[in-house]
Amino acid sequence: MTGAPYDAIARWYDELVRSAPLYEEMILPAMLELAGDVAGKQVLDVACGQGMVSRALAQRGARVTGADISTKLLDLAQRYENETPLGIRYVHDDAQTLATFEDAAFDGATCGMALMNVDDLDAAARSIRRVLKPGGWFVAAITHPCYQTPASEWVEDERGPARLVRGYFNEGYWESADADSVRGKVGEHHRTLSTYINTFARAGLLAERLSEPAATGRRAAEVPGNLEAPSILVVRWALR
Ligand SMILES: C[S@@+](CC[C@H](N)C(=O)[O-])C[C@H]1O[C@@H](n2cnc3c(N)ncnc32)[C@H](O)[C@@H]1O
Repeated sequence: MTGAPYDAIARWYDELVRSAPLYEEMILPAMLELAGDVAGKQVLDVACGQGMVSRALAQRGARVTGADISTKLLDLAQRYENETPLGIRYVHDDAQTLATFEDAAFDGATCGMALMNVDDLDAAARSIRRVLKPGGWFVAAITHPCYQTPASEWVEDERGPARLVRGYFNEGYWESADADSVRGKVGEHHRTLSTYINTFARAGLLAERLSEPAATGRRAAEVPGNLEAPSILVVRWALR
């Protein structure tokens, strides 16, 4: 991935985030639960996009900085901040370097649905580790690497809906054939679960809790297969 592909789909992505139940019903609650009590904490929201996770953290009392490479999504985030000030600072920065920030500047960091978009996961893991204070934590939501492989699909038989998984071991960048999906518009990297866990371990961050939210509410009605297999994995990493 080169440049900031989300610039081209910023408005479309903003609409999706605000309307799709996946974010409100599954991603945000799981991330906030694993982040724990953030009141008064300095938190960096890596690849913050239009600021959905940043605002949720700030509403719980965190002092939030959001960083992203998409100028258009940062503009939208800043517009929401201007409309309803929560004290969030937004900066243009790359997750692979986080060059704006001093070492050990944050109590915690978050990253909502974006590690799959980052080309160099090793570099991002090292940067995130660098900006965390001793005892720091990192909570990230990703498309579930075990069930959301490029060749996987929802199927249905007499036992009901199920997820058929193929190509789990084929890591690499891919674009979905569904032109009306995020992965159809900008694509993403498929990586195995062990790649995620081992990459962060190499950087000094150990996985300490996982969440695999099952669908509820509107999402369960729209994607009944999500009652059988998860689409999202949320991981809390801790500095060792
Ligand atoms: C699916 S969006 C998620 C945005 C936001 N966290 C959310 O949950 O709505 C992926 C985001 O990753 C950002 N991104 C991709 N590569 C990045 C990088 N190397 N550094 C910072 N942001 C990046 C994109 O610009 C986009 O905002």
